[in-house]
Amino acid sequence: MLVVSGMTAYADVFARMHEQCFDKPWRVKDFTDLLVLPTTVGWVNARGFLLCTRVGDEMEILTIGVLPAFRRCGEGATLLRQMVLYAVEQGVQRIFLEVADDNVGARALYEKAGFCVTGCRKGYYETPHGRCDAICMTKETAP
Ligand SMILES: CC(C)(COP(=O)(O)OP(=O)(O)OC[C@H]1O[C@@H](n2cnc3c(N)ncnc32)[C@H](O)[C@@H]1OP(=O)(O)O)[C@@H](O)C(=O)NCCC(=O)NCCS
Repeated sequence: MLVVSGMTAYADVFARMHEQCFDKPWRVKDFTDLLVLPTTVGWVNARGFLLCTRVGDEMEILTIGVLPAFRRCGEGATLLRQMVLYAVEQGVQRIFLEVADDNVGARALYEKAGFCVTGCRKGYYETPHGRCDAICMTKETAP
């Protein structure tokens, strides 16, 4: 598992994987703009990726994806575990994320990893079938 921070050369790797995981893929430039920031940290291997931002004692998951061929083999959980370990080592107190209300798999993944629902943003995501709520989830990392 490679940890990327400030490594904009990986922008195209993230973009190619992202388009296999999401209906609305982010462009290479989106990843370049994120990876250049000192607050961005990411994990990537041949099966999946996770990108997040850290500001002070808080982190936010920006995106996570596992290539279709490797799903339900524990990769998503491993990526999350790596990120949480990093967060604890760095003294991060809480981790935030948003997930589409109808993304059953991702919600189950996050709940299993100890994230709790803390809010809901009505109509936050635009989908081909209309607007969909974002569920806000948080994990406290402090002992
Ligand atoms: C969500 C995603 C990252 C999960 O990755 P994954 O490698 O398949 O997840 P794991 O195999 O580590 O799953 C861990 C647990 O999460 C839950 N889970 C994962 N996918 C699930 C699904 N499709 N349905 C129900 N539960 C699911 C299960 O509890 C699973 O444990 P189990 O397999 O022992 O039952 C992957 O499906 C994906 O890339 N989806 C498209 C992109 C996306 O939606 N990203 C999240 C945006 S918020």
